[in-house]
Amino acid sequence: MKNLLIIGSESGIGKRLAEMLSAQGHQVFGVSRNPRAEDGSAVSMHFEADAVNGDLDFFQSLPAELHGLVYCPGSINLRPFTRLSEQDIFNDFRQNVWGAVRVIQKAIPQLKQAGSAGVVLFSTVAVGTGMPFHASVAASKGAVEGLTRSLAAEYASSGIRFNAIAPSLTDTPLAASLLNTPQKRESAAARHPLGRIGKHSDAAALAAFLLSDEGSWITGQVIGVDGGIGSLRS
Ligand SMILES: NC(=O)c1ccc[n+]([C@@H]2O[C@H](COP(=O)([O-])OP(=O)(O)OC[C@H]3O[C@@H](n4cnc5c(N)ncnc54)[C@H](OP(=O)(O)O)[C@@H]3O)[C@@H](O)[C@H]2O)c1
Repeated sequence: MKNLLIIGSESGIGKRLAEMLSAQGHQVFGVSRNPRAEDGSAVSMHFEADAVNGDLDFFQSLPAELHGLVYCPGSINLRPFTRLSEQDIFNDFRQNVWGAVRVIQKAIPQLKQAGSAGVVLFSTVAVGTGMPFHASVAASKGAVEGLTRSLAAEYASSGIRFNAIAPSLTDTPLAASLLNTPQKRESAAARHPLGRIGKHSDAAALAAFLLSDEGSWITGQVIGVDGGIGSLRS
């Protein structure tokens, strides 16, 4: 049994991941800003905290050994480039990068203590493949990819692995405004070579693998879960 911390355990990919990991018998700790949803995730313990702007006191309640950390908060702030404000750019950076940095910094002693541990971060397909109106989120997620590889190098000798998942459009509350009509859903599905949009379980299953013993020789990777859109022409 592993002790695993999911920041963003009550929605979308993080929620599905919490269900998968709990079903595998792991002890899963979850964090989100809002209270645990009534149909909330299967976490053993939930902490209400803002990982980006709040205190991280919940770490005091976690076990001394942490075998895994997943940082799920993200943003999809799509705007024409000239309409992006300083605030837009900084908000995206704080949510995607700074939040991950401060949580990882706090977790390092407990991850080291475990002897072997995995950290999973989230990028987006829009870093490796240019897409209009994605400048702000792609810039932030590009930083997440750099962070992933840098930390993978820095902590390999401490037994801590860092990997990132780069999803394409996935049916979660975060993407709701992009999928709120049948027409939008159909055209989004048709854009993907595999003919559908992502399910929360697509990315969650990869995260679970990256945290598992079977994934223990993988570090410094950014892996697409994107229906082929990041690398294929159909
Ligand atoms: N869905 C997509 O189409 C898509 C595509 C590409 C990349 N991604 C990336 O995949 C990751 C997961 O996305 P998702 O769609 O599953 O997102 P989601 O449905 O919005 O879930 C995000 C989770 O993070 C929590 N959260 C957000 N800000 C937080 C904060 N400051 N402190 C603590 N918890 C916070 C949310 O709960 P609270 O709001 O209660 O805090 C929620 O539980 C994100 O990084 C996203 O950028 C998603």
